[in-house]
Amino acid sequence: MRPIGARRQVQPAARDRARAGGRRVLRPGFEPAVKQASRTVHAGRELVARSPLAPDLSPAAVHVYTDLEDYDAVARGERPGHYYGRNSNSNRAMLERAVADLEGGEEGVATASGMAALYVAMLALAPKPVTIVATRELYGGTLALIRQDLEPAGYEANFIDMTDLDAVRRGMDGAGLALVETITNPLCRVPDVEVIAAVARDRGVPLLVDNTFASPILFRPLEVGATAVMHSATKYIGGHSDLIAGVVVGTAEAMSAARARSVRTGSTLGPFEAWLALRGLRTLEVRMRRHSDNAIAVARALQGMPGVARVHHPWLPGSVSHDVAHRLMPEGTGGMLAFDLDGGRDAVQRMLSRFQMVRFAASLGGIETTVSYPEITSHRALSPQERAELGVGSGTVRVSVGIEAAEDIVADFAHALSE
Ligand SMILES: Cc1ncc(COP(=O)(O)O)c(C=O)c1O
Repeated sequence: MRPIGARRQVQPAARDRARAGGRRVLRPGFEPAVKQASRTVHAGRELVARSPLAPDLSPAAVHVYTDLEDYDAVARGERPGHYYGRNSNSNRAMLERAVADLEGGEEGVATASGMAALYVAMLALAPKPVTIVATRELYGGTLALIRQDLEPAGYEANFIDMTDLDAVRRGMDGAGLALVETITNPLCRVPDVEVIAAVARDRGVPLLVDNTFASPILFRPLEVGATAVMHSATKYIGGHSDLIAGVVVGTAEAMSAARARSVRTGSTLGPFEAWLALRGLRTLEVRMRRHSDNAIAVARALQGMPGVARVHHPWLPGSVSHDVAHRLMPEGTGGMLAFDLDGGRDAVQRMLSRFQMVRFAASLGGIETTVSYPEITSHRALSPQERAELGVGSGTVRVSVGIEAAEDIVADFAHALSE
């Protein structure tokens, strides 16, 4: 497997580069050798003499013009510049270029949330009703979008276990869109996206990957053949639990459709959130390394703690995803893990009330360690039977391991779970 930074392909973000006036992100000659760590710091920038090193915040809703032909050329995307904030904005454009660069795609579209990114991406890849073959462990919001918005509009859904490659092969037949999450929620299984992408390509099915849990630092789905990749930038990309945003990346053609729909539905990302997301993204590489190291350390420690029946982390030897996760994500799998606690909800409540540093919160991907309780958070819309089929019980706890010192996180769990 390639080390971080050894990229199979880096497509030029043609349209965005045109918008930026063709200026290079890094000095000529430097770009091809650049590792992901350096890219994360510099991607999307357009530095020239006297540029601010950190981007200015540009909240303007509209830009003024003196020449009709000039306005027309900018509106057609033939000249760099912005004219109306819903269509484009310099902070949003910089974030889009940066994430597109990190994922190795042609273009990015930044949206008001991860859900908006999913929605515009799905409709860009499948504008007319088709059968969507999707991972059965989908994030609850995505499941609700399919069931409550897309199915009534004529789409059909086929939810399968994406770690079962025979089910994947069967499911792809007749499908018009495939949707997979790099690491499943909450049990942290890793579908073989490389094989899934090959099957999808064979059958001519566009594959959309939700890469929120891994981030482009740990895994880049486009490099193994996915059609498009999306993120809830609310999570690791933003990284500081202080914004809601989404980004989708793919070919210029697909992103042009996604952008147009995002502009029409008004789900584009605001300037301040784009500015914050980009500020967060600059430290993504170091954060993901710390999240990954801490999560495996906490997972190992939890295995020996009282009341812990089972720990779910893709790198643990007992995980069904052990081999696939090591092959696809050799640098680490990020900060997510889950565990099953004997004693159900009461035991979980007891643990929560004894934490001194770890907090209960229904999101993930921030610098602070948080736990969530899928039964009433991400999986609350499912029946107990549906949750049981997914392996989510009343003692299942999801952990988003932060970047504090691993010893302190382990000590807090040890204290909270002690008899
Ligand atoms: C894997 C995944 N995808 C998408 C989303 C939706 O993102 P947002 O809340 O930014 O709309 C979430 C949110 O928790 C998520 O965990």
